Amino acid sequence: MGIIFNEGSKEFHLYNDRISYLMKVMRNGQMGQLYFGKRIPNKENYDYLMENRYRPVTSYVFDDEYSFTLEHLKQEYPAYGTTDYRMPALEIVQPNGSRITDFRYVSHKIYPGKPQLKGLPATYTESGDEADTLELLLRDDLLQVEMTLLYTIFQRENAIARSVRFENKGKEEYQLTSAMSFSLDLPDDEYEWIQFSGAWGRERYVKTRALQQGIQSVGSVRGASSHHHNPFVMLKRPTADEFQGEVMGFSLVYSGNFLAQAEVDTYKVTRVMMGIHPLGFSWCLKPGEEFQTPEGVMVYSTEGMNGMSQAFHRLYRTRLARGYWRDRERPVLLNNWEATYFDFTEEKLIEIAKNAKEDGVELFVLDDGWFSTRCTETSGLGDWWPNMGRLPEGIKGLSEKVEALGLKFGLWFELEMVNKDSELYRSHPDWIIHTPGRHASHGRKQYVLDFSRKEVVDYIYGLVAKILRESKISYVKWDMNRNITECFSEGFGAKHQGEIFHRYILGLYDLYDRLNREFPQILFESCASGGGRFDPGLLYYAPQCWTSDDTDGLERQKIQYGTSYAYPVSSMGAHVSITPNHQLNRVTPLKTRGNVAAFGAFGYELDLARLSKEEREIVKEQIRFVKKYRKLIHTGNFYRLLSPFEGNFTAWMVVSEDKKQAIVAYFKTLNDVNREFRRLQLKGLDEGTVYQMTEEGKDSGCFFGSELMNIGMVTTDASAGEVPADMEPCSDFWSRLVVLNAKE
Ligand code: DGJ
Repeated sequence: MGIIFNEGSKEFHLYNDRISYLMKVMRNGQMGQLYFGKRIPNKENYDYLMENRYRPVTSYVFDDEYSFTLEHLKQEYPAYGTTDYRMPALEIVQPNGSRITDFRYVSHKIYPGKPQLKGLPATYTESGDEADTLELLLRDDLLQVEMTLLYTIFQRENAIARSVRFENKGKEEYQLTSAMSFSLDLPDDEYEWIQFSGAWGRERYVKTRALQQGIQSVGSVRGASSHHHNPFVMLKRPTADEFQGEVMGFSLVYSGNFLAQAEVDTYKVTRVMMGIHPLGFSWCLKPGEEFQTPEGVMVYSTEGMNGMSQAFHRLYRTRLARGYWRDRERPVLLNNWEATYFDFTEEKLIEIAKNAKEDGVELFVLDDGWFSTRCTETSGLGDWWPNMGRLPEGIKGLSEKVEALGLKFGLWFELEMVNKDSELYRSHPDWIIHTPGRHASHGRKQYVLDFSRKEVVDYIYGLVAKILRESKISYVKWDMNRNITECFSEGFGAKHQGEIFHRYILGLYDLYDRLNREFPQILFESCASGGGRFDPGLLYYAPQCWTSDDTDGLERQKIQYGTSYAYPVSSMGAHVSITPNHQLNRVTPLKTRGNVAAFGAFGYELDLARLSKEEREIVKEQIRFVKKYRKLIHTGNFYRLLSPFEGNFTAWMVVSEDKKQAIVAYFKTLNDVNREFRRLQLKGLDEGTVYQMTEEGKDSGCFFGSELMNIGMVTTDASAGEVPADMEPCSDFWSRLVVLNAKE
């Protein structure tokens, strides 16, 4: 791994064992892009890749020639209006109204390791030999604004992290109205664009389309990364699949408004960019001030989509997630929300917790409804003190009682919100995000607190920290149930209103950061009406995220499958809930609900007392299984095998780093009859190793890794002809978990 600067050609080569990234200082002093892909050798000069020709209806930069035009050149961080007509990565509005900029190379720094980004989540290194960083300093001399392009190449992963910092060294004030985290010009358009889109209850469905000339994009302008689109997209060669071929993944480490875009020009150059969504954004850059963009991460894989995902998984699990819980086994939890909703007493909660303890649960989580006047969704948000009517000894007393049962205790908060019916709103009506003189829209009868204002964040911090200090709390579920409307802050003047969406996210990160620091051993799980803010930004503060409010075993196959393209299994909160399922009324077998949830941060979302004796035994077995294998499931290499978006079967597997253990999960959506004999080719095993196969503890034979990967594992089920006496009959929504252990 390293970063080479070839002085003569002014080219930079970032490389590790598997990838190369090349760029150069162009003749006009701006930065040009040469290559991103599989590792190539270092050469003094790759200048031939800067292709320039005369073409009609083109504008040229230099007076004395007809070739150098930014319209035809691949660039690192393009601007609009100086011969390039594609979408720019930046825009700066100047006092005279001009938006023209010209950032030219000044100098660079190369150093081991990776810098922190002030106030923002980002990937990190633990030692200098894990990554190298290049800082390219560019300056617009007229504006006296400096721009630093940051690139970090990781040693172990095919990943490059990028971001941009602006610094106003001049005397004038500017409005930064667009500042992408990265831009990348690729030489052709032979790609499929894959995005992860959906809505509440069906987050991160896989959507694929061929790139076309013009702009294709996804984004969010809701103030949160959103259920609707995820800040992650892929470009894949049409011939690439899960296991082979060229795939690039682009991810933004950010939780607010974002744009992910690919523009294909008429010469088939594909410009990919990601960053804060420019709609409504502007940042007032005063003399002496800086603006740092969020970080973007680009992964390049020749091992298909699984190869790309595994790189993101390792990077995000070990070098984005942080702290006490990063490498620890996550507790099996039981959350009372679907068991009681708002309708509980302390006695009832203790009863639920006792049953949970009996079956092996380790952490009891009290969800919404424990504070102030909160007995429905219409009141109490913002008043973070216990409802002493419901909980006679407060959270302190309840947490002690739960701990006395031998369980850890966790608590729900929704710190960014306020109901109008609350003491907080009555004392500080101006603390909500709203536009003076305009109607303030609500969502779930709640309003968004103005986290762009420090005093608001400070106040909330005071309340929540008090509860966390005085009670025995090991886990916090941090919810967020509405998006921002009428965005405006009474804490800022006119020229700062375009900053509020971003300042809000900075306030959110600041609150998380303060709580992480004061309570390093508390496990945080982020949540936003399910998976409405499942993004890398929050994984920095909360290593797990509630994946979706939809807990049905079949729906979750799709949601977790889609989520797995960028995010590690350890980050996906996944619970078994009651049937008929509360979101869609389906009755999925308990076994299948457990088998899906086992591939996540596992838990229950029900009152175990409502299950039959037989079902309780299944639950006990599920918990035993998860405790035994959670380390493997969370840290192994995850392979998607069969997609729920493509057929009647879903399959995935996880293989330990040393290839000695693996678990295969196999799901069938609808049962069928008189069907074919079936096999499933496994992945990631050691060819020559013999694996002992077991299913529900029963020996299912021994197989070479090469057998299981080439011939395949036999998955013929009861639907192929007459059912043998020792075979389990199938049903709709049926599933199996198969464990493989290397024999000595
Ligand atoms: C939305 C969350 O996704 C649910 O799990 C639950 O915590 C409710 N909010 C509580 O209001």
